[in-house]
Amino acid sequence: MLYYRQLEVPNLQALTQNALNFVRSKSDIFRRKQGINLMRLPLDDFNAKCPEAQEFASSLGLRITDVLTFVLWHPSQCGIHRDSWRHKARINFPLLNGKNTYTYFYDNVETIETRNAAGSTVVVAKDQSVPHVAFVETTVPIVLRVQELHNVMLPYTNPVPRITLSLGFDRDPVFLLNDPVNTGTSTNTPGSV
Ligand SMILES: [Fe+2]
Repeated sequence: MLYYRQLEVPNLQALTQNALNFVRSKSDIFRRKQGINLMRLPLDDFNAKCPEAQEFASSLGLRITDVLTFVLWHPSQCGIHRDSWRHKARINFPLLNGKNTYTYFYDNVETIETRNAAGSTVVVAKDQSVPHVAFVETTVPIVLRVQELHNVMLPYTNPVPRITLSLGFDRDPVFLLNDPVNTGTSTNTPGSV
């Protein structure tokens, strides 16, 4: 099974800069160092400020339905977890300080339910020190299976905040991982072991 796939995105530099400017303009989000660090951004406002994102989505037959940003100030703000979105996959873009940070994937790990800072029930690994089965550095956009157990590793010495953009779509982009022939983009390292 492919856990992720790296994507080539047209106008990536403009997309990244516009998205980062947008996140920074939401200073209440950008400055939040504790508690909830996964935050929803207003979709219409985002589409107006970052049209490159929907252009990219359209090229894959997708429509953006929700925009999140994940602002990580400290390694302890993330653990091994499963996302509880409706769809199996999302597309994530590194916006700032992604180099030398990694998304790890896990398989056959015992899980428990707990509550996050937002009060939502989330599924996390019972043992947070289990070995991973795949990983990818946060340097290029990826489509990834968010319902599989995953974690973000941020070295203590890394510059912060580490900021990523996470897009959800109408039509689950998991097809980009199910059918390697029909990706619509060129690919580099498949995320499987
Ligand atoms: Fe996640």
